[in-house]
Formats: sequence, structure tokens, C-alpha cells
Amino acid sequence: MSFNLRNRSLLTVQDYTPREFRYLVDLARDLKRAKYARTEQEHLKGKEICLIFEKTSTRTRCAFEVACSDQGANVTYLDPAGSQIGHKESFKDTARVLGRMYDAIEYRGASQTGVETLAKYAGVPVYNGLTDEYHPTQMIADVMTMREHSDKPISEIKYAYIGDTRSNMGHSLLIVGCLMGMDVRICGPRSLWPSEEYQTIAKELKAQSGARLMITDDPRAAVEGVDFIHTDVWVSMGEPKEVWKERIQLLTPYQVNAELMSASGNPQTKFMHCLPAYHDTETAIGKQISEDYGMSNGLEVTDEVFESQANVAFEQAENRMHTIKALLVATLGD
Ligand code: CP
Ligand code: NVA
Repeated sequence: MSFNLRNRSLLTVQDYTPREFRYLVDLARDLKRAKYARTEQEHLKGKEICLIFEKTSTRTRCAFEVACSDQGANVTYLDPAGSQIGHKESFKDTARVLGRMYDAIEYRGASQTGVETLAKYAGVPVYNGLTDEYHPTQMIADVMTMREHSDKPISEIKYAYIGDTRSNMGHSLLIVGCLMGMDVRICGPRSLWPSEEYQTIAKELKAQSGARLMITDDPRAAVEGVDFIHTDVWVSMGEPKEVWKERIQLLTPYQVNAELMSASGNPQTKFMHCLPAYHDTETAIGKQISEDYGMSNGLEVTDEVFESQANVAFEQAENRMHTIKALLVATLGD
């Protein structure tokens, strides 16, 4: 391997340089092609990977499990109630136990400090599978998906993220585009803008990469000319259900609907979402919220947009697996 990420953790979006990040995206593309062509080779034979999930997951867990299986590694899944971590045992002690048994650890939970403590004391690579602050593995998949659905070089791609911009996804999409030199528009009500801390990180990266950055509360200005419109749920995992009322009041003007899609002025604009999405009433929460607040046409995205040809969120979901595999192969592979 000519590019060495061996034994590196991934804790925040900005852990890797643009070249390192691009290397992961390129490797994911190669691994995806190899899987499609039935030529994939195992680079993780005999590796033991621990997957700690203090929050629930479909994509991230399955991506790690399938990536490990394809590459010959074994996994242990610790579910949100299935370990001592955080309740009876500190992150520091857990790290020192798991680091003696595993070659790498994935952690999903609220605490960014927690995942950083795991990495400090485990002695093996630790991957952030989502915290309240960041969702870095999602970003590799998002950049890969935008690249797959655009003829432009990465640095010429324009995207908007609309909605709750001070969440893990808001922070991550703010930062990844500034890291990679892209045209980034972050849009939501001012009270939900990313804090100074995240804006400063983004602006420093932007100064190095030549990225363009707009942070605005005007959704039509944000989407003008973009190639991709991203959104995410308005209430994230771990937030109390009482915040729905205020979020719906604040964020209804930021719903991604057909009108906002066409406001890009670009008929090829694609819709992206890390998923899961509230676009209909086929989930218990989607149904309850729609009844309680009279939201009959989806929440962060309408069913019309979600079910349209513009939606590439399922390609994005598939790419979680190829990109997580790339991360594992790059940091642990033979
Ligand atoms: N996008 C994402 O992280 O999905 P899961 O919560 O299902 O892992
Ligand atoms: N912001 C969402 C992302 C889910 C993948 C959450 O934290 O629930």
C-alpha cells in the first residue's frame, strides 16, 4: 500500500488531511468495484473488531458487520444495554480491557469525550460511529456518493445542508466540504446554527482548501445552483421528545419539498439524507408527530421528494459499507 493510514483512529471529520480523506474515498470506490466484480480479496483475516453501540443503528452496524465479514474479520456487537461501559465502568478502563482483546473498536454514543478517551487508552484504532458532535464515517460515504453522482471534480461540487445545523450531521457536513475544498451552504434558523467552535474549525480548513462557505437562514439562497441538497432529522437520538414542538415551529420553513428542490434552478439536483428519514407516517414516531402537530406531508423531507428520482439516499446508505470497509482496510489491513 503506498499510502499509510495504518493504526489510525477516526474520531472527528477533520482528523485526516484532504489527501488522506480522498484516499479513503478512492479505496472505497476500488473495494466497491471489486465486490461488484467478485474479485474482492480479504485483507482483515483473523482481525477482531469490537462494535460498541450505546445508541441504536441500522446502517452503521450493518456496514461494519458486512465489511468485516467480506474482509475476513470477526466482530463482537455490544448493544445499547449489553456492556458495562458508562454505567459501571469508565471509558478509560473499558479501553484498557478491550484494547487487550481487539484489533480495533467502533463506538457509537453521545459522548465525543468518551470516544476520544477510548482512543487514548485502548492502544488500537478507534472509529467514531456517531456521537452528538460528529458522524465522520458518514462523511466518507457522503463525499463518495456526491462524487458518484456528479461529473465534477470534488472541489467543484456544490451542496447545501438544510435543517438542524448544530447537530452531528450539521457539524460534519459543515466541516467535510471545507476540508475537501467544496462549495458548502449550511442553512437553518439562527438559533440552530453551529457554535463558534465548529465554525472556526470549518473556516480554518476553508482557508487552506479554497472551499466556499455560506451559513444562512435563507433556504432559497442556500440551494441556488447546488448539485446536492442534504437534510437530516429535526430531533436527533438522545434528545427528549418535548423538543419536537419547538423544532417543528423553527424548522418547518426548512423542509425539503419539491419547491425547494426546484429553487436550486438545477433539474439534476439530487437529494441526500443519512437516514433514517421521517418522510411518511409508516413509522411509529412519524405517525405520532404527524398526528400531534398536523404535519401530514413528511417532516424534514416530503414523501414526494423522498420517492422521486432525485433521491440518492439509498446509494448513500450502501456506500456506508464500502467506505467503512475502506477505513478498516486502510487502518488495519495486511
Ligand atoms: N446514517 C446512519 O448512521 O444510520 P444508522 O443510525 O442506521 O446507523
Ligand atoms: N442526527 C441524527 C443522525 C442519525 C444517523 C441523530 O443523531 O439521530
